[in-house]
Order: sequence, then structure tokens, then C-alpha cells
Amino acid sequence: MKQTSIVTAAVLIAGGMGLLTLGATAQDQTSDPAAADPAPAVYTAEQASAGAAVYAQACAVCHGAALEGVAAPGLKGEYFKQMAAAQQLTADSLLSVTVQTMPQTDPGSLTAEQYNQVVAYVLQQNGYPAGDVPLAPGAPNLTALMLK
Ligand code: HEC
Repeated sequence: MKQTSIVTAAVLIAGGMGLLTLGATAQDQTSDPAAADPAPAVYTAEQASAGAAVYAQACAVCHGAALEGVAAPGLKGEYFKQMAAAQQLTADSLLSVTVQTMPQTDPGSLTAEQYNQVVAYVLQQNGYPAGDVPLAPGAPNLTALMLK
């Protein structure tokens, strides 16, 4: 009986410490979002470099050769961050909004793989990491990448 309560107490204490640790982590994230939780990798480097060519051909005329924004808003930097935050964009919704609405003059005119590539390029240009898993509609990690 006594033995049990000691074990119980130890479990409770360990559990409490776990909560404290979680609390501390959450606080670190608010004070310095970049340092905590590395963003999940949702595209490959090959896709991003292929996407650069797609971008130059199909997007640059409106969004600028360096994604800086010309006739259309910039797709990089502070403006893009604000738009992503306002729309609570994930990599997943960025892909679907791009497929459904871009290029604005001819939505849906690229192949599925070109859309994957150009979105990979936009993510790369905004500093999100490349990895082993190709970007594709419905890939499970896409919703996990919250753009900010
Ligand atoms: C003919 C000009 C034009 C072209 C070409 C074009 N866009 Fe756009 N794009 C716009 C305009 C204008 C907006 C802002 C209005 C809007 O959101 O519809 C926009 C908005 C966007 C947005 C933000 C959408 C949102 O609100 O979340 C993304 C992402 C985007 N474009 C990506 C692309 C990509 C990638 C390409 C190339 C495949 C592309 N665009 C080609 C004009 C263009």
C-alpha cells in the first residue's frame, strides 16, 4: 500500500514536471517563433528548382521576377507573411488557392506537377526547408506547415 502511494506520487511529480516543461516550450514559442519547432519539410529541392522555371514563365510577369510584386502582390517577405497570417494559409491551402486561381488570366492552365513545383519554389523563396517528400495534393505534411 505504502509502496503504491510512493509510486503514485512519483508518477504525479513526473507528470507535473512534464506539464511544466510543456508550458516552458509554449512560452519559448511565443517569444521566439523562429527558434522553436522547425517547420516540416514539404517539398524537394528538385521541385523547387523546376518551379523556378515555371514561375519565370507563368507568374513573374505579375508577381515580379524576384517575387517582389509588380501588378500583383509580392509572394515573398513581409507582405506574403501578412497575407498568409491573415488567411491562415498552410502549404496545403497555398497549393489549392494557386491551382484554383492562378495564373489569374488562365487558372488551372498548368499541369498538376507544375503547380506542385511552383508552390515548392514559393515556399523555398520564403525560407521553408526542402526535404525528401515531394509536394503533392493531399500529402499529409502539407496541412502541418502553417505559413507565417
Ligand atoms: C495576370 C497576372 C497574374 C499572374 C500571371 C499570376 N498571378 Fe497570382 N495573383 C495575381 C493577383 C492580381 C493577385 C491578388 C488578387 C487575388 O488574390 O486574386 C494574385 C494573388 C496570388 C496569390 C495569393 C492568393 C491568396 O489570396 O492567397 C498567390 C499565392 C499567387 N497569386 C500565386 C501565383 C502563382 C504561383 C502564379 C504562377 C503560376 C501566379 N500567381 C500568376 C495576379 C497574377
